[in-house]
Amino acid sequence: MSRLSVKLPGLELKNPIMPASGCFGYGEGFADKYDLSILGALVDKSTTVEVRKGNPDPRYFHSGERILNSVGLKNPGVEGVLAEKLPYLAQFDVPIIQSVAGKNVEDYVEATRALSQPENVKAIELNISCPNVKLGGLQFGTDPEVAADLTKQVKAATDLPVYVKLTPNVTDITAIAKAVEGAGADAIVMINTITGQTFDLETRQPILGGVTGGLSGSSVKYVALRMVRQVAQVVDIPIIGVGGIESIDDVLEMIIAGATAVQVGSANYANPMVCKEIIEGLPARMDELNIESIEKLVQEMKMMIKQ
Ligand code: SIN
Repeated sequence: MSRLSVKLPGLELKNPIMPASGCFGYGEGFADKYDLSILGALVDKSTTVEVRKGNPDPRYFHSGERILNSVGLKNPGVEGVLAEKLPYLAQFDVPIIQSVAGKNVEDYVEATRALSQPENVKAIELNISCPNVKLGGLQFGTDPEVAADLTKQVKAATDLPVYVKLTPNVTDITAIAKAVEGAGADAIVMINTITGQTFDLETRQPILGGVTGGLSGSSVKYVALRMVRQVAQVVDIPIIGVGGIESIDDVLEMIIAGATAVQVGSANYANPMVCKEIIEGLPARMDELNIESIEKLVQEMKMMIKQ
């Protein structure tokens, strides 16, 4: 293992950095900027059985580094991803964590079964946390029993590890985390966006086509850090931390909170090179902070958090 590598169930990553689902498409917009093989892993867009057109425009509202999105799981569907997106990504030496969404249990199971087949897909990310769809998404992520039942059924549909992506839009995220761990989740990904809204001063109407949207960007980091630490205190499976990460120090802080690996989301919009810059800059910052290896830091923090 190198100084940057980390282990997740079913995966040994070159480094702890992966782009977050929905902020990197299927890699196409970034592959002309750097070699995607340098990434620890790549989480692609949440994919559903059917092609989804997404919510009406506008789907994004930018305010500085803060973004509200109301994309509505726009994606080319399982067939499109199997025919084009995953074969395209196979040219890179990077494990794909395939994000899966659905409007009901059967959809999630069908999409998982189909998307588990390609050689380069090494894990499933179960998206039970999209705030922008009427069916599916939050419906599965806010009740511990419902989340556990879906996790069980998706686990039964694949031989790959299943990482469950949680929503912060709940009163007690630890209850959901414990429920999915009990149902066999191999890891937890947290957090998805926080539901928000914005209004036009002239029309007095909501700006986003989907009315509400998911808030991401640097301010979300502090919510994510708090929730990752809370969940790390009560589960034994690894956590992949996501929410407002945009710098090397953010990555290290997320690992200190209790994460094993880290996803970079909205920061990819402002700076498409951000993942590469973080990966390249990590060793020097680790030297400054006397961090011998990421894996060692992960283990030290796990022990400290559980004491
Ligand atoms: C969306 O497609 O609306 C965003 C994805 C998500 O929040 O999971």
